Formats: sequence, structure tokens, C-alpha cells
Amino acid sequence: METTRQIVLARRPTGVPVPADFDLVEVPRPVPGPGEILVRMRVGSCDPAIRGFLDDRPSYLPPVALGAPINGMSLGEVVESHNPDWPVGTLLRTFAVWSEYYVVGADALGIERVDAAPGVPLQHYMGALGPVGLTAWVGLFEIGRARAGDTVLVSAAAGATGSTVVQLAKAAGCRVIGLAGGPEKAQIVRDLGADVAIDYKAAADLSDAIAQAAPDGIDVYFDNVGAETLEAVMPLMRLHGRIAVCGMIAQYNDADNPHGNRQLWQLVVKRLTMRGFITYDHPEVLAQAQSELDHLFAQGKLKPLENVRTGIETLPAAFIDLMSGRTTGKTLVLI
Ligand SMILES: NC(=O)c1ccc[n+]([C@@H]2O[C@H](COP(=O)([O-])OP(=O)(O)OC[C@H]3O[C@@H](n4cnc5c(N)ncnc54)[C@H](OP(=O)(O)O)[C@@H]3O)[C@@H](O)[C@H]2O)c1
Repeated sequence: METTRQIVLARRPTGVPVPADFDLVEVPRPVPGPGEILVRMRVGSCDPAIRGFLDDRPSYLPPVALGAPINGMSLGEVVESHNPDWPVGTLLRTFAVWSEYYVVGADALGIERVDAAPGVPLQHYMGALGPVGLTAWVGLFEIGRARAGDTVLVSAAAGATGSTVVQLAKAAGCRVIGLAGGPEKAQIVRDLGADVAIDYKAAADLSDAIAQAAPDGIDVYFDNVGAETLEAVMPLMRLHGRIAVCGMIAQYNDADNPHGNRQLWQLVVKRLTMRGFITYDHPEVLAQAQSELDHLFAQGKLKPLENVRTGIETLPAAFIDLMSGRTTGKTLVLI
């Protein structure tokens, strides 16, 4: 019998996940039914949102059951097809499970074809030329309405989304300030083109450090972390500033104790727009976003920042590193 290896949830994490929360198991390879396809995972994606699916509470998707494979996005190749729209050999991205082989239908969450250009590493299509780039683009331009001359602040600026936001905002003619944890990460943010990078862990007073970097205030805050950082930034926004709320990773490992923000009054004082978003809720702009990402990449103005491992068995360690703040760029696993 043909088999597949997959990563399952062994127990629910408390705080930062640890290896014992996950198991590697070998199970019979699933068989596609009518209209379905069998996909071989080529690039697995580690996303902070997965941490929310591991708790026993509703997030924007239901929790993963104990013993069940972990849910996540991946890039894969169709190896058996019962659907003429998805022939063998098609490359696709979809929300599925952390399994070397998985079966999906044509209505799978987020399923989309990937047109990989010759010579471009496949993993970029799971990163800056894929969901990461689209998230950065939608948050910056569709939600944040960033335009040339704006001062853009981005948190987790050495991370997957943040490192892409830095580059997109620079290419659009913005002044860019990045927040990152540690001197090495801050240097990476500078190397990506940010005008100022602040190592927030070394700043005696984060508000002062940001105010010095942006004496006239911030037009767009691209928020990846929430919590104390968001609270520190709100009084520093300019009149009619925009806060694009991409995520709040600072509280994912401790969702029972969310940070209480005491600066919401600034929404009124500064007439701010603060809006959360999910990338794929904006299908009307994704083709434009993808074409601009491809163009910037071809021009050398968008350099995908990635940390890449190999083998399905490395997915838990990669995810633990991501949720421990140890990674830079997009965390990916080649299968
Ligand atoms: N809305 C959407 O559609 C969408 C799509 C994708 C991602 N997101 C969100 O975007 C944010 C960034 O995601 P990403 O995939 O680009 O990941 P990422 O930035 O690569 O995430 C890891 C980084 O987050 C920072 N961080 C801050 N507080 C942390 C904490 N308590 N624990 C761990 N890390 C912490 C760390 O950077 P420092 O060391 O610099 O603090 C860490 O390196 C997340 O909030 C995610 O949920 C949203």
C-alpha cells in the first residue's frame, strides 16, 4: 500500500509550541474521489495564523482536532486527477494539510493555479511572489492607501510580510521605518532599503524612538504585531492616518491574555482609519498586485527574503522557530 507522511497535532501547545506538540506519522496515501485531485506537496508554508488553529477556540478557521494533520497553505503539484480543470502536472497553491500527499476538491480553500516562470525558484511563489507579497500589497495599498511621500511604519519588518512591505513601500516612493527585534534584524531591514530601522528590543522608550524617526508623524502603520507596539504607535499617527491591521502575532502564543490598548481615543483625535484585513477577501485587486510583484521582482526591486528547510519532518521545528521570533523572512519547507 502506498503511504504518506504527515505532521499531526499530538497535544495543544501552551505558550510557544514545542516539539512534543507535534508527531510525524505515516498513513495510507489518500485516494481522490470523483472531481478530486491528489496533490504532492512541493513547498510547505509556516504561517503565524496556524498557531491560532492549535488552540481549542474558534479563530477565523476551526481548531485542528487532536491527532489530526495540521492545516496550512502549501504549493503542490497534481499527481493524479479526476478533474479535467486540474490536469496532472498542474502547480497550485491551496489551504490543505501538512502531508506529503493530500486530496482536495476544486472548491478547496484558496486553491489557485501557480504560473511559475522558468528559472525562478518555486518557493518564491509561496513567499514574496505569492501569498506574502499579496498580503503586503493589499495591506499597504488597498487598506493603508500608501502613496509616494507618505511615511510608512511597519512592525516585524524583518519577517516575511514586513520585509516585503519595506521593499514595496520604498519602490512606491514612501519614507519607510521598520521595527525589528535585534541588531541583526535591524540591519537586514536597512539592507532592504528602509530609511530607518529601529531595534525595538534595545529602545529605552519605543514611542520616543519612533517619534525621533518620524518627527512629522506616520501616515501608514502596517501592523503585524499589535499589543504594546500598536499602543505606542497610535499617538504618533498623523491626521487622517491609516492603520492596516495585518496581524497581532505578539498575542498568538498567549491568546487568553490579549493586551488592553489605552490609546483608542487617538482614532478620534487623529481621525484615523484602522482596518483589519484578510488578503483573499480582496480578489478584485489580486491580479494587479501579482503583476506589480512580478514586475518589481524582474527589475530586482523586490528581493524575496526566506529561511528554507527541507523535508516534511522539519515543519514543526520551522514553525517553532517562527513562533519564537527566531526567523527572518518567510519560513518555508521544501518537500
Ligand atoms: N491578514 C492576512 O491576510 C495575513 C496574511 C499573512 C500573515 N498575516 C499576519 O501577518 C503577521 C506577520 O506574519 P508573517 O507570516 O509575515 O510572519 P513573520 O513576520 O515572519 O513572523 C515572525 C516575526 O514576528 C515578530 N514577533 C513579534 N512578536 C512576536 C511574538 N510574541 N512571538 C513571535 N514572533 C513575534 C518577530 O519579529 P521581531 O523579532 O522583529 O519581533 C518574528 O520574527 C502575523 O501577525 C500574521 O498573522 C496576516
